[in-house]
Amino acid sequence: MSRTTAVHIDLAAISENIRTLRGSLAAHRFMAVVKADAFGHGAVQVAQHIESIIDALAVAFTEEAVALREAGVSAPLLILEGPHTASDLALAGKLNLWPVIHSDEQIEWCKTLGADLSQAWIKIDTGMHRLGFTAERYAGIRDTLLSYGIGAITAMSHLASAEEPDNALIQAQLQSWEQTVRGGQDTTSLHNSAAMQRGLSASSDWVRVGYAVYGGQTKGLPNPAPLRPAMRFSSSVIALRDVPTGESVGYGGRWTAQRARPPAGCTRRSSDRQRARARRRRCCGACCRR
Ligand SMILES: Cc1ncc(COP(=O)(O)O)c(C=O)c1O
Repeated sequence: MSRTTAVHIDLAAISENIRTLRGSLAAHRFMAVVKADAFGHGAVQVAQHIESIIDALAVAFTEEAVALREAGVSAPLLILEGPHTASDLALAGKLNLWPVIHSDEQIEWCKTLGADLSQAWIKIDTGMHRLGFTAERYAGIRDTLLSYGIGAITAMSHLASAEEPDNALIQAQLQSWEQTVRGGQDTTSLHNSAAMQRGLSASSDWVRVGYAVYGGQTKGLPNPAPLRPAMRFSSSVIALRDVPTGESVGYGGRWTAQRARPPAGCTRRSSDRQRARARRRRCCGACCRR
């Protein structure tokens, strides 16, 4: 087969990134987010590779967790969307999954199934307004869930733009969060990649880290941690075309040649040998987008 287009996943980069990120964390527990097939890196492979160096994993929904358990992954698993149905919650009890509880319907399911759960995380909406209960309801819901027999509760919230810690929304979220979890009764989890890398000062026994695990950098950090991208895309140029100035290329003619050159990052006056070499050369992806 001659197809050269491929995505290369570097599992060693992922484990190195986790070790680097953990280095600055001291006492925090580390949850690696492997939702959406580990952001395209392969959830089973990533989870199996990092299981021994993380404290827990997070996925979006129950089916993702079931697939990991079937592959033999035994690390604690948080379901970020929580159960979609009562039978999802029953599975959580059976497979020792930790559901996030963010709606009254989910609380209702916990009435009969809560005793089977070792943990549940209560999502507090501090201002992102995607999921969660208002901060005022947190203490009451915590008491209710504990009365249903759930083993332990963690308070969690999610920040809308931790990349910009001076942003008014973040400041309001941090204030609401600290007021709600003040008193330290429960375990807490607030920090995502950016909050962790920015070193945001806020209660967060657990960090839930997604894109930094895969090498994503938070913009504007004075001393960014040396993270390595874990995914590389490679392809090859399949044809070099001479496109006259003013002619358009492709669907809808949305790209127009501003000067006469082939749309493959290759000089027009290159020799046949240079062209042949360029054709064989691995493509960076950017030139193919033209
Ligand atoms: C609830 C929740 N927590 C944490 C994360 C991780 O966020 P980040 O990728 O910014 O580290 C995500 C996103 O993946 C999320 O949805």
